[in-house]
Amino acid sequence: MSNEQQVRIYNPSEEMVKNAAVSGMDGYRALCKEAEDDYEGFWGRRAKELIDWKVPFTQVLDESNAPFFKWFADGKLNVSYNCLDRNVNNGLGDKVALIFEGDNGDVTRVTYKDLLARVSKFANALRGMGVKKGDRVVIYLPMSIEGVVAMQACARIGATHSIVFGGFSAHALRDRIEDAGAVALITSDGQHRGGKALPLKPIADEALSLGGCDTIKNVVVVKRTGGDCNMVAGRDVWFHEACASQSETCEPEWVEAEHPLFILYTSGSTGKPKGVQHSSGGYLLQAVLSMKYTFDIKPNDVFWCTADIGWVTGHTYITYGPLACGATEIVFEGVPTYPDAGRFWKMIQDHKVSIFYTAPTAIRSLIKAADNNPAVHPTKYDLSSLRLLGSVGEPINPAAWEWYYQNVGGSRCPIVDTFWQTETGAHMITPMPGATPMVPGSCTLPFPGIQAAVVDETGTEVPWGQGGILVVKKPWPSMIRTIWGDPDRFVKSYYPADFQGKLYLAGDGAIRDVETGYFTITGRIDDVLNVSGHRMGTMEIESALVAHEKVAEAAVVGRPDDVTGEAIVAFVVLKGPRPTGEEAAKTIKELQNWVGHEIGPIAKPKDIRFGENLPKTRSGKIMRRLLRQLAKGEDVTQDTSTLENPHILEQLKG
Ligand code: WTA
Repeated sequence: MSNEQQVRIYNPSEEMVKNAAVSGMDGYRALCKEAEDDYEGFWGRRAKELIDWKVPFTQVLDESNAPFFKWFADGKLNVSYNCLDRNVNNGLGDKVALIFEGDNGDVTRVTYKDLLARVSKFANALRGMGVKKGDRVVIYLPMSIEGVVAMQACARIGATHSIVFGGFSAHALRDRIEDAGAVALITSDGQHRGGKALPLKPIADEALSLGGCDTIKNVVVVKRTGGDCNMVAGRDVWFHEACASQSETCEPEWVEAEHPLFILYTSGSTGKPKGVQHSSGGYLLQAVLSMKYTFDIKPNDVFWCTADIGWVTGHTYITYGPLACGATEIVFEGVPTYPDAGRFWKMIQDHKVSIFYTAPTAIRSLIKAADNNPAVHPTKYDLSSLRLLGSVGEPINPAAWEWYYQNVGGSRCPIVDTFWQTETGAHMITPMPGATPMVPGSCTLPFPGIQAAVVDETGTEVPWGQGGILVVKKPWPSMIRTIWGDPDRFVKSYYPADFQGKLYLAGDGAIRDVETGYFTITGRIDDVLNVSGHRMGTMEIESALVAHEKVAEAAVVGRPDDVTGEAIVAFVVLKGPRPTGEEAAKTIKELQNWVGHEIGPIAKPKDIRFGENLPKTRSGKIMRRLLRQLAKGEDVTQDTSTLENPHILEQLKG
């Protein structure tokens, strides 16, 4: 950042600094110092202040069985009580908790009082089915009020939920049900997306018929799309019928702070997904604290996180964090491009959203859409309600950052580029919006209390300006507790012997700016390329490509090469039509020279292929493993069941 390139620095406005929970860099540094001087005190004081405990804890951190750390272990609480009852008791009963907007634009508002009643009814229904503390419940639902209700209801009775994203296939669902040993499945007849009604229950039925799901005793079905729906007698029950005769009050199950609130499956380096297990107390603490520090949540904010509840972002920043802060938030069923690519901007305008949190991939695709159709450009909408923007899920390239800042935020709203992971539970490295001077492309500095570092293969910290491996030096309250059913894999994956089991390995590469110490994530360390002995982050090359005026999106992977070790293959989506023949050859040369110019000749992609899009999951993540196969010229033999747009693969073949 501090090299030849001109770096633009964006300071938060005076007003932002004045009013923010973390005010100015002095405020930020004071918090960091507090944590450095008294680590347990730092977290313990906030746990007391921000959480209602049934039984107060006496010990903050128990490291006796490291790396299986325990936080607030002898305290008891209920997460749903903290999200709902507490707000109602504090006079927020009539405040709107959820503004649900359906795919077709219908809006439903749910107050805290309503939400508590709905959660209590469903919690009672689950108890009536025999679901009890510690049982696992798999939730396979689209974005819906019931999705949030189901998660909160599990939390209320101490059942451990495991959400399976609605875009996953029957096999993926089966594997997760089996691994979790779930006793109940909550699903819906179907879901609305992009103007279409898509079936869900048939996929759930197929999953249950594949074998391995004998533990499932009850299937609860939310009616969303209507029409025919196969219901198995004795096993399946409609959600509304199960709730109909239930009481609107439900005594919460008071659980130990370490009680598993949820398991969420995520991809690892092997084919088998990892069931990341989270706690109740520590997790809730950081969900709330990051709402306060990173999102600077205030009573009048309208908060919108566009993630799906199927991913960790939807857990922490839809179901738990905002509700535990008594916030009003949007829950959106649909997709950003329906009925047109102005949907997000229209919803911000309609609901006067003040904090908007989305993913770089969404931003980049909306940049492309706005370039092609000026009518859906964000500047065509009244976005004056916005005061803060966020980004999550992947590095945001500076060009997309600038566009987001100028066109969505009106050059007025700070952008919090939040680095974190399913395993970390909450933000780890992120600007504080009323403190940190922002540099596009950098997630800047650690969240107060988080001790991140960049190390080499031996675990020794590398000098600023030198790339390395991102680690966290101390345990933190919302961290992963174990991999469900596989504690050895937990230790091997996250506390490897290379680092004497002392450092948490994030799996990402990072570099710190020589002058500011700001972190920039250089991509997963499994995505690092080695070309002729030179190490390069795929992200670096992608960022260069998308900085070219013709390029909308790019993904770069490595391919084995006899001469250079690895060769760079770039998959590129242009803003204009997909080129072929002469035109393609010309554009390839142009882009190769461009990258050569931006980074250096060594970074020039050897092979560039054009598609109308990149292969993505429905959550918008680029499926790099497919690109790697395509790059090698292999047929795609891997599971493509989570792929949103399979026809793209044909275009991207060499
Ligand atoms: C990447 C999503 C750069 C990173 C919350 C991480 C990011 C992985 C950022 C976790 C960011 C997430 N800048 N990279 N702001 N946020 N990542 O588990 O590679 O779906 O390890 O959690 O996404 O993805 P996950």
